[in-house]
Amino acid sequence: MLKNKKIIEKLTLEQKASLMSGKNTWESQDIPEKIPAIFMSDGPHGLRKQVGEADHLGLNASLPATCFPTAATLANSWDEDLVYQVGTCIGEEAKALDVNVVLGPGLNIKRNPKCGRNFEYYSEDPYLAGKLAASSIRGIQANGTIASPKHFAVNSQEYRRMASDSIVDERTLREIYTTNFEIAVKEGQPKSIMSAYNLVNGNYANEDSYLLRDLLKEEWGFEGFVVSDWGGDNDHTAGVKNGSHLAMPTLGKNGTLELVNAVENGELEEAVLDQRVDEFLSVVQAVDFSSANGTIDWQKHHEVAKKAAMESIVMLKNEANILPLTSEKKVAVIGDFAQTPRYQGAGSSVVNAKNLETTLDVIGEYPLTVVGFAKGYERGGKSNDQLVNEALELAKKSDVILLYAGLDEILESEGMDRTTIDMPKNQLALIQELAAAKKPIVVVLSAGSVVECSWEKEVQGILHGYLGGEAGASAMLEVICGHHNPSGKLNETYPISYQDVPFGKEFPAKGRYVYYKEGLYVGYRYYDKAQKAVRYPFGYGLSYSSFQYSELIITNSGVKAVITNVGEQAGSEIVQLYIGKSSSPLVRPTKELKGFVKVFLQPGESKMIELAFDDKSFRYYDVESRSWKTESGEYNIMLASSVKDIRLEGKLLITGTEPEDYVVLPNYQAAKLEEITLADFEKLYGQKVPQEETSGQHLLNRTSIIDEMNQAKNPLARFVHRIIRALLKRSERKGKPDLNLLFISNMPFRAIAKMTNGMVSLAMVDEMLVMVNGHFFKGFAGLTKQFFQNRKLQKAK
Ligand code: BGC
Repeated sequence: MLKNKKIIEKLTLEQKASLMSGKNTWESQDIPEKIPAIFMSDGPHGLRKQVGEADHLGLNASLPATCFPTAATLANSWDEDLVYQVGTCIGEEAKALDVNVVLGPGLNIKRNPKCGRNFEYYSEDPYLAGKLAASSIRGIQANGTIASPKHFAVNSQEYRRMASDSIVDERTLREIYTTNFEIAVKEGQPKSIMSAYNLVNGNYANEDSYLLRDLLKEEWGFEGFVVSDWGGDNDHTAGVKNGSHLAMPTLGKNGTLELVNAVENGELEEAVLDQRVDEFLSVVQAVDFSSANGTIDWQKHHEVAKKAAMESIVMLKNEANILPLTSEKKVAVIGDFAQTPRYQGAGSSVVNAKNLETTLDVIGEYPLTVVGFAKGYERGGKSNDQLVNEALELAKKSDVILLYAGLDEILESEGMDRTTIDMPKNQLALIQELAAAKKPIVVVLSAGSVVECSWEKEVQGILHGYLGGEAGASAMLEVICGHHNPSGKLNETYPISYQDVPFGKEFPAKGRYVYYKEGLYVGYRYYDKAQKAVRYPFGYGLSYSSFQYSELIITNSGVKAVITNVGEQAGSEIVQLYIGKSSSPLVRPTKELKGFVKVFLQPGESKMIELAFDDKSFRYYDVESRSWKTESGEYNIMLASSVKDIRLEGKLLITGTEPEDYVVLPNYQAAKLEEITLADFEKLYGQKVPQEETSGQHLLNRTSIIDEMNQAKNPLARFVHRIIRALLKRSERKGKPDLNLLFISNMPFRAIAKMTNGMVSLAMVDEMLVMVNGHFFKGFAGLTKQFFQNRKLQKAK
C-alpha cells in the first residue's frame, strides 16, 4: 500500500524515474509544484555547505560552521548525551543554512589502523560505534534535520574504495560490520542512510537486497531513504530494484532514461519503482522547509565543541604525576601544532571552522608559566636542524617541555590509506633530542587514529587529544593545568607495533577482493583472546583521580556496582561491561563490550551504577539457521576500567540453546590468526572465495579502476597512468594530498558516466575502454559516435 498514492498517480513514469537520482551535486530532483528538492551537505563533525563550485571532496569553499571534534575523537568520551548535544548543534546549523540532510555520522568499523578514514569513524567495536551513532542521529534529527549515517556497510579501506569487494563471512558480517548499523538504525531512527561504495560478498552495497531490504528494512524497520555514496551508483536499475532510492550526485538525464527504459523493457517493475518513490517521498514530504536563518548561537556551539573535545581527551601516561602542570613550573611550548593546530581530517568532512583556536593564541589565559615557543619541526617529515636547535635552546630554560606532536595532514585523509602508523620521522627525532636534554616531556598528541608510541618511554606524560575541532586547543589546556580532569578512554587498541595487527601485511588489499580473514577478531577481540600485549588497550585512559569498584550484583536483567572516587579531584570514570563465555564449541572472543556508562564523582563520593542487559548481551549469529541465538551456559560478566583492567567479575547462567551444526575451526577458536590459511578462511566463509582473475596486462572493463591502467594494453593508457602517479607523488612531497587525483585513480571507469552530469554516457565509457584496451582508433570512432548520440538524447528529453 503506497502512502503517497495520490501524488504518485499524478506523476509520469519519467518524473518518477527522475526522483531516483540527484539534480546536481547536493540536491535531489524536484518536480515543480509537486515535489520539492532536498539539500544535502556533509558532514559528520560540522556542516560543509558549499557556496561556490560544488565538489564532494572538501576542496572548494564552504560556509563557516562550527568544527566539532571528529567521530574518532568524540568516541573517546563514551558519552552518549554529549554526542547527542553535538548532533543537535549540527542539526541547528543545518537548519539555519537550509540544509535538509546531514551526511553523517560515519560509523564504519576500524578494521585496521591504517584505514585513511578512521578519524571519521567511532570505533573498532560495533556496540560503541552503534550507540554513539544512534545518539548523533537523534541529535541531528531533533529539529527535523535528516541524518544520513554512512557508509553501509563493510567499508573499511580507502584503496579501491569504489571497486573493492569485501569478502566477509556471514557471522562476522552480522556481529561486527552490521551490528553497528543495526543499533544506529533501531535506536537512532535515521530518515536516511548512505550505502557504501564497495561490494559486499559480490554485490555492490548500493544494489544489495540482503543489506538494503532484508536487514535494513525488514529486520530493523528502517523507514527512510537510501542514498548512494557520491558516484557510488553502479547499475542504477539494480540499485532501485534492490532498495536504493537516490543516486548522487546527478546522473544527468541518463539516470532517468535508464530507469524509464528498464520499466519499458520489463527489467524493472513499475510497482517496484513506485514503492521506492513512495518510500522516498514519505521522507521528503515531511521535511520542514521553513528557514531558520540567523539563529545560530555560535558562542554556545563553540562551548559545546570545547566540552566535546575536553571530555574526549585521553591521558595515556602520567609518570610521577607530572600532570597537571602548576604555575611554578617553567614551560617550554614546542611543536608546530601549537601554532597551527591539527584539528580535523582531510576530505569530504572538512569544515571551514568558524572560530578556530590555536594553542599559542589561548595559552595566555591559563595559569602556566610559559618561557617561550619553538616550532621544533616542519610538517611533512623533513628534518630541519635549525628548528631542533632552537627547541633545544628553549628547553634549557624550562622545567618541563610541552611538546605538541602527532600526524601531519597528509597522513590522514579520505581517499588514501596510511602507509605506516609511525609518526613523521622528524618528530620522532625531535623527541629523542629533547629526551637527551633530560627535561621532563609531556607530549600533546594530535592524530585521528592509532599511532605507534615506542617513544613513550622517553617522555613522562602523554595527553591524546585526537582531532579536537575548533576548540581543541583550549580544551587541552584545561586538562594540562588541571581545571578539567581527563576522563576519555580509547575507542580503539594501540598495538605495540603494526606487526601485531592481524593480517596487517595484507592491508589495504591491492586487488579487487578484500578477504576479512580475521573474522570476528577485530581490534581488542583479537589481542585479548590471543593474549598479545598491546601498548594501550581498548577502553584505556587515565585520570587525575582513581576509582574503586565494589559491590557487584548480577541479576538476570543486568549488573549493578558501586563506583567510588578515591582520588582528590572530581572526575568521571567510564565503566565498561564486557561479557564472555569460557567454554563454548563456537568461535568466541573472550570479552565483548555490551554496555558502558560514564559516571561523574566528587572526591570521596560513591554512586551505584546500573547497566541493563539487552538483546545484544548474549546473542551470537547462527549461520546455519540464519538467526540470532543464545547459547546456554555460564557467562563471565565483567565490569572494567579497560578491556585489560577487569575490576569486578561474576558468573551468570543463561538458558538458551546448544549450538548445533557449526563448523569446527580450531585455529579460529584459539585465535591463532598467524596460522590461518586460505582454506581455513574458506571454511569460515562457507564456500570458496573468489580469486583475482587477472594479473599483468589485461582487458579493463567498466568496474576496473583508473589506477589499473598500468596493466592496460594501450601504451598511451599506461603513460596516462604514469602521469597520474607522478602527480600524486608530487602532491605527497608537497605535504597535501591531491584528493581529486586520488579520487580519480581509485574510481572505476563507469563512474565517469555517473559524475559528469550526463555529459558522458555509459556507452561512451565503453568506447573509452575499447581505446584503453588497445584499439585506439576503433574506440575513438565509437566514442565520437556515442558522443553525438548522447547529445541528441539529452536534448530530446
Ligand atoms: C564520501 C562521503 C561523502 C560524499 C559527499 C564521498 O566521497 O565518501 O562520505 O558524504 O562524498 O561529499
